Amino acid sequence: MNDRLPARLAVIGGGRMGAGIAQVFAAAGTAVTVSDPSPAARAALPGRVTRAATQLGLDPAAVLRRVTVVDRPVTACAGAELVIEAGPENLAVKRQIFADLDTMLPASVVLTSNTSAIPIGRIAAGLIHPERVAGTHFWNPPHLVPLVEVVRAADTAAATMDATVGALAAAGMRPVRVDADVPGFIGNRLQHALKREAIALVAAGVCSAETVDLVCRHGFGRRLPYLGPLEQADLGGLDLTLAIHQVLMPDLDATGQPQPLLVDLVRRGDLGASTGRGFRAWQPGEADRRLAEVDDALLRQRRAETGGETG
Ligand code: NAI
Repeated sequence: MNDRLPARLAVIGGGRMGAGIAQVFAAAGTAVTVSDPSPAARAALPGRVTRAATQLGLDPAAVLRRVTVVDRPVTACAGAELVIEAGPENLAVKRQIFADLDTMLPASVVLTSNTSAIPIGRIAAGLIHPERVAGTHFWNPPHLVPLVEVVRAADTAAATMDATVGALAAAGMRPVRVDADVPGFIGNRLQHALKREAIALVAAGVCSAETVDLVCRHGFGRRLPYLGPLEQADLGGLDLTLAIHQVLMPDLDATGQPQPLLVDLVRRGDLGASTGRGFRAWQPGEADRRLAEVDDALLRQRRAETGGETG
């Protein structure tokens, strides 16, 4: 299968992720048009693209020349061979966007959603051409985190998967195929299984939230960029993994609902950095500083992986 960069891409929804996705493709050479109904989002988009391109050491003006921002999807999609939806994480909104795109665009145009967790089949239900719909789950920020989970729903055609994987690879991303349309796909299932246990440990008084984060960052998290959990299990010996699971599995949290501690925090209005308190207190400006530190670390890691080539 050939990796082929689309000549024209439409991105529907130009917020945080839409802007990042636009930057990735524009930097690779695609002409990208982004639509967003919000004037504020449209006004913020060039700044977001500029910031990402600058971080990568690219000429932001050259990248921005390939990005157009409009208010209506019909304008964004003219001549596009691939459309990536990055609107709000709301099933009704996404279904409406896809219903409109499906009636508006020739069946040869591939439509994908950047949903974090909604099964693609629910978004594509009732469409005339569900075979051209797939998931493309990027990670934030797309210019620094290369993975994209390409999700096959029950009706997705093999050609849709191949074209999507090929376009993402040509844009310099690391696409992986997800062959069943399960909520949360692969990455968010793993990430939120970890968060469930993390919150349960704090709720049970085993340790503080800070300690949970230290254990992840300075313990097994150090290995994760280089060694996934299953290769690590093979290296350590599956007999050892089995022995640990026999002790641990009956004891791990298996709550089939959001943790009561999380529900209580949200009910109280303690939403995290945005409100000044979540699992810990946040001072004004602290969140931006932490996010900048994380971006810097991701950038160093990307440079190391690509031998300095970030663009
Ligand atoms: P965001 O809120 O920054 O952007 C969403 C944009 O959609 C806004 O600019 C909004 O004006 C626009 N919008 C609202 N109604 C619309 C409509 N009817 N048609 C088109 N656009 C519309 O949200 P963000 O973070 O960019 O997330 C977008 C999608 O990507 C969501 O589905 C989210 O779950 C998913 N996602 C988010 C990640 C993250 O870390 N923020 C990571 C991976 C996926």
